[in-house]
Order: sequence, then C-alpha cells, then structure tokens
Amino acid sequence: MDDPLVFLNGAMMPLSQASIPVLDRGFIFGDGIYEVIPVYNRRMFRPEQHLQRFFNGIKAVRISNPYSKEQWLDLLNEVISNCPLEDQSAYMQITRGVAQRTHAFPAGEIKPTVFIMCNPLVLPPPEVRANGAACVTMEDQRWLHCEIKSISLLGNVLAAQHAADHGANETIQFRDGVLTEGSSSNVWIVKDGVLLGPPRDNLILEGIRYGLIEELCKTGGIRMQSRRITRAEVLDADEVLLSSAAKEVLAVVAIDGQAIGNGQPGPIYQTLYNAYQAAKRG
Ligand code: PDD
Repeated sequence: MDDPLVFLNGAMMPLSQASIPVLDRGFIFGDGIYEVIPVYNRRMFRPEQHLQRFFNGIKAVRISNPYSKEQWLDLLNEVISNCPLEDQSAYMQITRGVAQRTHAFPAGEIKPTVFIMCNPLVLPPPEVRANGAACVTMEDQRWLHCEIKSISLLGNVLAAQHAADHGANETIQFRDGVLTEGSSSNVWIVKDGVLLGPPRDNLILEGIRYGLIEELCKTGGIRMQSRRITRAEVLDADEVLLSSAAKEVLAVVAIDGQAIGNGQPGPIYQTLYNAYQAAKRG
C-alpha cells in the first residue's frame, strides 16, 4: 500500500501524484460529501445503500453529480481492483469544485471535484473486540444537519480527539441530555432484551449499519425500537453497542469510567456480531 492508484477527476493515478487546486471549495469551505464503504474480499458490502446515502447528501447540498450510480460503482470497482489488499475501506468524495472564494455557490457551472481511494480496513484490535470498548462522553457540538455525510467534520474531529485524549475508543455525544451518536459511529443500548437506537432524524448520521442491524434483529428475533434515549438510560443500560463501517458492531463496556451492565460484552452484542459476520460473507 505504498502508493495505491486513486481516481481523481476522470483519471487513475498514484496517490502521490493526486493533487487539487487550493481554491477547491472542499479545502476552503469543507463544501462536499463523502462515503466510506467496507470492502471484504474485494467486494463492497451494501454498495447500493452507501450510494443512495451519497446521492441524498449531494442532492441536499445541491452539488451537481457528474455520474450515474452505475458509473460511480464502476469507478469504485476500478480503484478496489487496483488496490493490493483483499479487505479495504473504499473512500469517495465529491466537492462543489474550484472557484474564487465567495461563500454562496459560484455563478455559472463549475466542475465538481471527484476523488476515490482505497485504504486498509482497520477493524478494532483483538483485545477491544474480545473485551469491549471504553468510551467517554461529551456534549454534541455539531451543526443540525448530521444526517448529511458532509466532509465538514470539525465537530466529529474534536469529539474523536476527546476520546484519544482520554485513552478511550470512542466519544458518545449527547444533545441536551439526549443521546445522538459517536464521533464516527452510531450508538445503541439494550434494556430488558430490547435494542434501542436514536431516531433517524437530522441529529445523527443514519449509518448503513442502522438498517442492517434492524434486519439482523428481525431475523434474530430481537425486539428493536428507535426513540429518544436519555443519558441516564445509556448509563443504566444492560448493554451499549457501537456500529460503523470500521467498527462493524462493537460492545461498549465502560462509559466515563463507569461499567456498563456487568462490564463484559453482552448476549445481544454477541448475537448481532455473529449475524454481522455471516451477513458480510453472504
Ligand atoms: N463514519 N455516525 C457518524 C457520525 C459516522 O461518521 C459514521 C460512519 C456512522 C456510521 O455509519 P456507517 O454504518 O454507514 O459506517 C455514524 C465513517 C466510517 C467515517 O467517517 O469514516
């Protein structure tokens, strides 16, 4: 993975040669949308769902989309097939393009900047997988359109650094005492055998694993509900879980130094993790 081939604005090239003008609105304003798709054995997991979320984001911020879904998938597959790794994390990004710096959209047509790369898929280390993750909490400081997978990630970056500063695996965010999500993951709790997730609204990014977990609950006979979850409910939960492309499904065993449940990964976690492993190979 020294210098993998990436796609930038119509051409494949080594990563070391990929560059963009400094006036790109992604660089200047964070004016763009991205996706991260897990790849197992060189096959994307749930590509249609990722593409649909990407298209929704592009439409929401009114960037012009140069490619159809089929074209995006072909480009992703080209990058994936050129990557030396079997398991990968495919990254795709579009920005509004290059223009003189003014906040409102540039007058006239500008070409969006399109970038696709592959990275190693970095899964949780074995000891975190086996023993569960430790999390810290903070107030959600982000904007009110967290459902858009925007490249403007300063709030998420600061939340992730808060975890790093405390030697934790993830930061769980709350808005006025109500659970939102992790810095780059969705958060779930289990109480009395029911899996609870926050509402799919503008306060969280609805992970592609959100819908997947819903399906896995249905087939596994686990009751699931989406509703507002308070901080007290999180701390008092029988189990807490995280989900994301890189974390898959991960047990949380401590929050702000306090044990969750009995301090061990729980049975609902184990069921969902096993089901996830089966689904990703299926
Ligand atoms: N992030 N919430 C946030 C804020 C996220 O950034 C992510 C994923 C998720 C989970 O979404 P999914 O199940 O589709 O991975 C929820 C990716 C992995 C990232 O930014 O790298």
